[in-house]
Amino acid sequence: MERRVYIFDTTLRDGEQSPGCSMNLEEKMEVARQLERMKVDVIEAGFAISSKGDFDSIEAIAKTIKNCTIASLSRALEKDIDAAYEAVKYAESPLIHTFIATSPVHMEYKLRMKPEQVLEQAERMVAYAKHYCPAVEFSAEDATRSDPAFLAQVVRRVIAAGATVVNIPDTVGYDTPEEMYALIDYLMKNVENIDKARISVHCHNDLGMAVANSLAGVRAGASQIECSVNGLGERAGNAALEEVVMAILTRRQSIGCYTGIDTTRISKTSRLIYNTIGVIPPLNKPIVGKNAFAHESGIHQHGVAAERSTYEIMSPESIGLAKNTMVLGKHSGRHAFVDQLKEWGHDVTPEEADIYFAKFKDLCDKKKEVSRLDVEAIVSSGTPMN
Ligand code: KIV
Ligand code: ZN
Repeated sequence: MERRVYIFDTTLRDGEQSPGCSMNLEEKMEVARQLERMKVDVIEAGFAISSKGDFDSIEAIAKTIKNCTIASLSRALEKDIDAAYEAVKYAESPLIHTFIATSPVHMEYKLRMKPEQVLEQAERMVAYAKHYCPAVEFSAEDATRSDPAFLAQVVRRVIAAGATVVNIPDTVGYDTPEEMYALIDYLMKNVENIDKARISVHCHNDLGMAVANSLAGVRAGASQIECSVNGLGERAGNAALEEVVMAILTRRQSIGCYTGIDTTRISKTSRLIYNTIGVIPPLNKPIVGKNAFAHESGIHQHGVAAERSTYEIMSPESIGLAKNTMVLGKHSGRHAFVDQLKEWGHDVTPEEADIYFAKFKDLCDKKKEVSRLDVEAIVSSGTPMN
């Protein structure tokens, strides 16, 4: 039976807290509205206690967005949870997201706490958050470098204390998909009350495995993925929302899950966020890069013209693009060249096509990119006969 996977978007929190990605209140509001249109399940709008700006943005989003759960992050501290609740309390569906680290290195050097103290703090702070809000998410920071038996104990106790979502972050992007699968599988089998909470995964991309790790977590039983548009996030970023969602859609039969995302909003959402932070997307970025639906080589252009599925595993329309792009370049064939001329209003004879195509190929070897203007210039220069 197919399972629903919930999409928890952290573009405005983990994404926004990464260098060069900060947004002001109006920008965050615009992004939140677009995330709502795209139908994400949860918007993590910020980290309320971290600044007045963050608090105000979360509050404004909580007051405006009606169709998504609105979350604020908080450390497992009363003052953080107070601030988180104050910020999200106007939401139709508020969520307090509280976290504490569970790995030996974080507990010893960052928290300076013994495992028993962390366990007790996690449990107490979930119960504290619960007196404000029925929906409480607990994250075990650096879960993937934690002792699985200790992690299981923490998960068991926070669920008993009322956590409705338990998140297992790969905070430093260290895991492999096999390890992520094994960890979630272990928790599913060893935490007796695990069915009382939604299990979530939150993977960072330091080794480029965030999406694969998220999907492995889902395969093992997680039903929520935390991700961000364009993969923005600390260091190398978080799992990219567009990749996770399109992988689940495109490989639906193999993955056996579905999301509620309106994928036709993906392209516009990605552009909005890149424009807001003033970044140009890498050309080859999966799903949303300029080349993701572009074909230059003659063999590929010919294949796609005959049957799109030869070189397109998903359609550009499915992410909201009008169509794919056939790029004219040195790898393009005569066929695609003539088709493109036709599209630009030039009906040429086979003899003219031969001459223009030869000139075009010549130019391709001299220039990195041959534009429409270049091609128009070739055509208007005519053939030796005219
Ligand atoms: O990466 C991480 O561990 C986090 C948590 C605070 C959820 O962002
Ligand atoms: Zn994170």
